[in-house]
Amino acid sequence: MTWTPDSWRTKTALQQPKYPDPDALAGVEKDLASSPPLVFAGEARSLRKQLRKVARGEAFLLQGGDCAESFAEFHVDVIRDTFKVMLQMSVVLTYGASLPVVKVGRMAGQFAKPRSEDLEVQGDEALPSYRGDIVNGIAFDADSRIPDPARLLKAYHQSALTLNLLRAFAQGGMANLEQVHRWNLEFVKDTDQFERYEQLASELDETLAFMRAIGLTSETVPQLRETDFYTSHEALLPGFEQALTRVDSLTGDYYACSAHMLWIGDRTRQLDGAHVELLRGVENPIGLKCGPSLTPDELVRLISVLDPDNDPGRLTLITRHGADQVADHLPALIDAVTKEGMEVVWSVDPMHGNTMVSANGYKTRPFERIVSEVEQFFAIHRAHGTHPGGVHFEMTGQNVTECTGGAMKIQESNLADRYHTHCDPRLNASQSLEFAFIIADQLRASRGVDNGGDRH
Ligand code: PEP
Ligand code: CO
Repeated sequence: MTWTPDSWRTKTALQQPKYPDPDALAGVEKDLASSPPLVFAGEARSLRKQLRKVARGEAFLLQGGDCAESFAEFHVDVIRDTFKVMLQMSVVLTYGASLPVVKVGRMAGQFAKPRSEDLEVQGDEALPSYRGDIVNGIAFDADSRIPDPARLLKAYHQSALTLNLLRAFAQGGMANLEQVHRWNLEFVKDTDQFERYEQLASELDETLAFMRAIGLTSETVPQLRETDFYTSHEALLPGFEQALTRVDSLTGDYYACSAHMLWIGDRTRQLDGAHVELLRGVENPIGLKCGPSLTPDELVRLISVLDPDNDPGRLTLITRHGADQVADHLPALIDAVTKEGMEVVWSVDPMHGNTMVSANGYKTRPFERIVSEVEQFFAIHRAHGTHPGGVHFEMTGQNVTECTGGAMKIQESNLADRYHTHCDPRLNASQSLEFAFIIADQLRASRGVDNGGDRH
């Protein structure tokens, strides 16, 4: 039962790359272990405190970003636009539902991907699957697909640079509420979402003008000019995470310092597995993906291991059943957790249970199904008297065509136009904004705020 940062090594770790040179891997992990942490324990603690409010229904969790970050798409504009859309969504939710929003990016470290198949077959050639830029290359050739430990270092450095930008965006002026109109992206202009957002932003301007008149400005009130923005990723590579796990000098506790929040994927949540072992010992807030194969019993046992003190904010359950299955599975999970008196954050990932292949061969997600899973999630929690605490989703601030539907009415035939993802299909900026308005409506309904639409 004793935990150490390397006790996971005695357990089975699924979904691991097969590195041809284990010594090279050990060398890189040693380098990482002596490199600076990316985040600090105190920051992870403050996120955990925010999530405690979410568990109690006093705040809402917005967790989103790339399915997989990549080395090729690493540009300041890409990060800035994703950040802007998250801010827009957050304003829609805060203003629309009168709840503080806790913003967590799938950014600055979301590189490693679990895969359903070890091999990818094209024609008569079978190669190891792409597992994210932190492991191997996406090009379908034998050399690219060999796992290369040097990629761990590259991902670490890219994460540091990304975090540097995120901190600057959050604290350096871009997140100032007086800039609320500037977060609207050009390409969204011809959509209803643009208008709807502009209207909300104008209302916000009036509120800010009133506050200014009574002496509350972004110079005097820091909450108006800056925001907290946290980072997260799936802790798929335990060796990498171990190297960045550090003792906090203030408390003597261990923290994973690669991101503020880490989660365990649906494919690696075995009770006796390496991933559960690793994350049970760090004090960060952690997430657990809960898919259709997870039974209520198993979930209760996992919670006892991951959150033995039953401390609200420690554990976020991210349910991802799919629009067709959520009604069959979620109620029993909620009943079991409630019966044990376990206080968790309930969040929904409406992406990973709703992936399908279009007639023309693209992996896609119909916007309607994403919305349907979220609406059912809210309705089920309403019926159970539990808090629908957050959403977890894959999006980008770029004008991609990866998910069908939404107000832009992306058709399967449009998918080829701008399909850029390195892994799963993401909502584009317009679809993300539309999604935020739908969530705000749901939140209002759950909180008994009665106006079923815009606030006037
Ligand atoms: C993901 O979040 O990218 C993912 C792979 O999800 P899941 O573990 O829920 O399938
Ligand atoms: Co994904």
